[in-house]
Amino acid sequence: MPKLIRWLGVVLGVLAGLLLASTGALYALTEARLNRLYTIRPEPLVIPAQVDLTRRDWPYTLVAFCKDCHGPDLAGQVLEDDLLMGTFASSNLTAGAGGIGGVYTDQDWIRALRHGVRPTGKPLVGMPSNIFNRLSDNDLAILITLVRAQPAVDHVVPATRLGPLVRLMLVTGSIGPDALSAEVIDHDAQRPDAPPPGVTVEYGRYMGVVCATCHGADMSGGPDAGEGMNLTPGGTTKDWTEGEFVQTLRTGIAPDGRTLDPEQMPWNDIQNLSDEQLRAIWLYLRSLPAVQTEHR
Ligand code: HEC
Ligand code: HEC
Repeated sequence: MPKLIRWLGVVLGVLAGLLLASTGALYALTEARLNRLYTIRPEPLVIPAQVDLTRRDWPYTLVAFCKDCHGPDLAGQVLEDDLLMGTFASSNLTAGAGGIGGVYTDQDWIRALRHGVRPTGKPLVGMPSNIFNRLSDNDLAILITLVRAQPAVDHVVPATRLGPLVRLMLVTGSIGPDALSAEVIDHDAQRPDAPPPGVTVEYGRYMGVVCATCHGADMSGGPDAGEGMNLTPGGTTKDWTEGEFVQTLRTGIAPDGRTLDPEQMPWNDIQNLSDEQLRAIWLYLRSLPAVQTEHR
């Protein structure tokens, strides 16, 4: 018996050692990525002092997408807080106490939104700058002015602290690109001109980037809740007309009578796009290769 217990001790000791070593490696690998310094010289942008605060069409509607994560008053919120995942909070974007609004320069806004990098040069975690990177100079400038125009709210959010599970997901690559968007952005890329507004596939594709955050890069949706439906000509909308598409996004009611949950599918923000903008997105969706999926 004592022999068995001794062996058990050895096995447990080895296991504990392996666990410690791999946890150590996990932290070392991820800390290196989290502390990497990016030297970004943000491209200059003319940011207007004022914009029309009553408009809700594109690009004004973009602020609604910030609110999905940064909270209805943009004062930041805890998105996740548990032992395995860690603590994730979106920043307070206003000029109130605990917010960045009062200290961020034009350059800081551009660095964060186009490059996913903080003023210190370190990468932001969980901020989808790879999406906002595609915005034209004009649209980004309007967006920054809109965010700056939000009332100041005092709210100190906890610092982001990554738990072991998220670190494991980072190392194995089983996490979306916006976990560390600075890693997937081509920081030196020449910015293509935005397509001129109009009912064109190109303009629809340009705006459709925000839909892709849920519906996926190929717009074919996904099986998990919140991933959205397959919007390609192989999906649920294959028999819809343009009129039905516009009507669905304005009312949240699909042609077959289903109501779309605004908590999942933000049609109550998308409904503010102009007819022309919605029709351009429809044209773009129709131009996509049909993806056949099992899920709806
Ligand atoms: C999917 C969720 C998500 C969306 C959508 C999102 N953000 Fe963020 N954002 C975050 C998180 C999380 C952080 C905190 C990152 C960190 O602390 O590393 C952040 C950080 C930032 C920062 C850096 C602030 C700082 O603390 O230095 C800015 C600026 C910012 N977001 C602006 C925006 C704007 C403007 C929009 C809308 C166009 C937006 N975000 C949309 C999740 C999001
Ligand atoms: C925050 C995630 C999210 C974003 C952003 C988003 N969607 Fe969705 N979408 C969903 C989800 C989830 C569903 C399924 C909703 C349900 O079943 O209630 C859905 C459903 C839909 C449907 C209904 C399909 C059907 O067969 O009933 C259409 C159409 C649609 N989305 C279009 C869009 C367009 C166009 C955009 C961009 C302008 C967009 N969505 C942006 C998550 C999103």
